[in-house]
Amino acid sequence: MESTHFSRFLFLLLAAGILILFACANFPTYLPPQPSPRLSSRCSASSSSSSNSSACKSRKIAGILKQPPNPTAESRRLRHESATPQHPLDPLTIQELNKVRHVINSHHLFKSPSSSAVALHTVVLEEPPKSAVLRWSPGDPLPPRKAFAIARSGGDTLLLSVDVASGELKADRASDSSPSGYPTMTVEDMTSATWAPFASADFNRTVTDRGVELSDVACLPISLGWFGKKEEDRRLIKVQCYSMKDTVNFYMRPIEGLTVVVDLDSKDVIEIVDKGRHIPIPNAANTDYRYSAIKKNQRLDLVNPISIEQPKGPTFTVTGDHLVRWANWEFHLKPDPRAGVIVSQARVKDPETGEMRSVMYKGYTSELFVPYMDPTDAWYFKTYMDAGEYGFGLNSMPLDPLNDCPRNAHYMDAVFAAGDGTPYVRPNMVCIFESYGGDIGWRHSESPITGMGIIEARPKVTLVARMAASVANYDYIIDWEFQTDGLIRIKVILFLGVLDI
Ligand SMILES: *[C@@H]1O[C@H](CO)[C@@H](O)[C@H](O)[C@H]1NC(C)=O
Ligand SMILES: *[C@@H]1O[C@H](CO)[C@@H](O)[C@H](O)[C@H]1NC(C)=O
Repeated sequence: MESTHFSRFLFLLLAAGILILFACANFPTYLPPQPSPRLSSRCSASSSSSSNSSACKSRKIAGILKQPPNPTAESRRLRHESATPQHPLDPLTIQELNKVRHVINSHHLFKSPSSSAVALHTVVLEEPPKSAVLRWSPGDPLPPRKAFAIARSGGDTLLLSVDVASGELKADRASDSSPSGYPTMTVEDMTSATWAPFASADFNRTVTDRGVELSDVACLPISLGWFGKKEEDRRLIKVQCYSMKDTVNFYMRPIEGLTVVVDLDSKDVIEIVDKGRHIPIPNAANTDYRYSAIKKNQRLDLVNPISIEQPKGPTFTVTGDHLVRWANWEFHLKPDPRAGVIVSQARVKDPETGEMRSVMYKGYTSELFVPYMDPTDAWYFKTYMDAGEYGFGLNSMPLDPLNDCPRNAHYMDAVFAAGDGTPYVRPNMVCIFESYGGDIGWRHSESPITGMGIIEARPKVTLVARMAASVANYDYIIDWEFQTDGLIRIKVILFLGVLDI
C-alpha cells in the first residue's frame, strides 16, 4: 500500500468510525482501569518520571520556541514527595500511594511464594460519596482517604478498597459482579507483549523469509480481546510488527498481514497468522516527520514566534494544586490514568446573588472508540478503546511549554502508580491558560441616528485546561474550555501528524 494511501485510509476510517462519549454527570461507581500505551516499550508510561532513551527524544528545532524547564526535576520530586491532599477529590499523593502499595503487598491475599504474582492495573482515589464532598468546606477535615485498586493475582481479578489511614483492605472478586472480561493491561503487560513474538522460532523465520532483518523489527500490542472459542479463559492480545529500517516513522512500514496472538499471562505465542506475503512493505523514503528531516526535502514556512501579552499576569489561580479559580468560575481539576483529566464541582458565580451555582459535578472522557471496520484477518480486531484500553492519562506525555500551551500557562503534574504500585510523576501533563484568539466576546455600537455615540466591545477570553494523549500514532488534544457566560466547551482535536507527511 502506498504510504499516502495508507494515511488517507486510516484517516477516512477514523473520521467515519470515531465515537466519543463524554459523561458529564455523577458517576459514583466509576471504576477506571489502568491501561497502557500501544507503544509501550520505548518511551511511554514506565515507572520512571522521564525517559532519556534516544527513541523518545526528538528535541526542538529552530523556529519553534524553547523554554527552560521550570521547576527543576529535583524540586518537582521534593514537592510531590511532601504533598498532602487539600480537597476531598485530590488524587492520591506519593505518600498515600506508597502506603496503599505496602498494605496490598503485605495482605495475606497476596502473600504468595512469588511476590511478583500481584499486578495492580489501577490505583486511584476512591472518591468519597457526593454528599460528603458537597458537605465539605475548606478548613474541614477531609473525608476518609481511600484507594480503589484493581489487582490481578493467581488468575483472578480483584477489586480492592484500601483505607489509607487504617490500612483496612476490602476485596471483591470481579467475576462476582461481571461475568467476563479482564482489566486493562499494565505497562509491564504491554512491554512483554512487544517482545513475546521473538521467543518464537516460527515468528523469526516468517520475518526473515520476508527479507526483513530481525534487528529492524518493532512490534506493538494492538488489540486485546477474545478471538475464538479455543481461546476461552485466556488473556490475549494481537501483536503487529513493523520495520524500523531507515525511518523513525515505523507506523508507515507495517509488515502487513502478519499477526501474532500472545497470551499476556504466560507470554506464549499462541498463533501466528501470515497472510500478507504478497503485500510489500512501504518504502522508508520521506517518511520521517521530524522537522530536521523534512527541511532537507521541502520548504516548511514557519511563522514568526507568537505570544499573547498579559502585562498583569494571568487572572486564574490554582490553590492546593487542583482547585482552579478564574473570572466567575471555580472547579477542581485532576489528572487520571484512564480519563486523562477529571473536572469536578464546576461552579459559576451568579452575578445577581454572588452565589456559586453548580454547573457540573463531574466530567471526564468516558471512552474514545476507534473501530476500523475492516473485516480482513489482519484488521478486523483493530477496534481500539483509546481511553479504556490504553489510558488517556497514561499516554499523556509532558506538554511542550510555549508550543503546546502559551506563555503564562500553569502546568499540573500527574502522580500515577506503576504495575507494582510504585508511584511516579508524569510532569507537565495538564496545562491551564487564558486563551485569546482576537475574537470579540460582547459588543454593541449605537447608530448615529440615536445620537448616543455608544461603541462598546469586550474581548473574548476563555480559560482552557489542556492535555495531549499520544496513543501510538494518534495525538489527541483534549481542551476543557470555560467561558464567562457559564458555558463549558469540550474540544477533542486529533492529529495524525506522523502520517501526514
Ligand atoms: C540524557 O541524554 C543527554 C543527551 O544525550 C545526556 O547528556 C544526559 O546525561 C542524559 N541523562 C540521563 C539522566 O541519562
Ligand atoms: C528470534 O530473534 C531474536 C532477535 O534476533 C533473538 O533474540 C531470539 O533469540 C530469536 N528467537 C529464537 C527462538 O530463535
